[in-house]
Amino acid sequence: METPLNALGFSHQFIAAHVCEGDLVIDATAGRGRDTVFLASLVGKSGRVLAFDIQEEAIRSTEALVRAHGYSDRVRLIRGDHAELASHVGPGTVKAIMFNLGWLPGGDHSVFSRAESSVPAIKAGLEALVPGGVMSVCVYCGRECGYDEKEKLLGFFRTVDSSRFTVCVTDFVNRSGDFPIPVFIMKQT
Ligand SMILES: C[S@@+](CC[C@H](N)C(=O)[O-])C[C@H]1O[C@@H](n2cnc3c(N)ncnc32)[C@H](O)[C@@H]1O
Repeated sequence: METPLNALGFSHQFIAAHVCEGDLVIDATAGRGRDTVFLASLVGKSGRVLAFDIQEEAIRSTEALVRAHGYSDRVRLIRGDHAELASHVGPGTVKAIMFNLGWLPGGDHSVFSRAESSVPAIKAGLEALVPGGVMSVCVYCGRECGYDEKEKLLGFFRTVDSSRFTVCVTDFVNRSGDFPIPVFIMKQT
């Protein structure tokens, strides 16, 4: 299947290029479970995926999709705020982290990611990465979510220590409207 040329498609390519069998990885926004299943397929039987979501509906959807793919043994679902990810993994232990922000597809649009959680979560995620580890962040804005999280995230990314991390913010400059943008972060080896 062809990879779509959008924020999520590019994020999947980036993550797949770095994750190996046996790795520990995190899906910081489980949603309907598609990214969790994608990550579980990359880490193989000996790897582990931790998947967070604040909504019970998302955790249930993800659990069902993970089970349908036969990946239950390699996935741990955590109903909770991704800002607390440091209480589930040690520093320097995680190979890759995906954030696919916004709201639950087909769910309650009044519940969506906010900078108050996503900025601390990304900070904690950066510390959790192994040297050479990677993070992708799909940033949404507009409609019910507004622009607050995007503005704060873009401000935060500029402050990340360049001696420890490379942060690449991309944009689809010839697309009109509020097109989600992918952000790619690499931790120095
Ligand atoms: C765009 S969806 C994720 C899509 C998902 N990765 C998939 O493959 O279907 C965003 C998800 O982030 C979750 N979310 C929002 N704020 C969160 C937080 N502070 N901690 C964890 N999850 C959060 C929402 O509940 C929603 O399910």
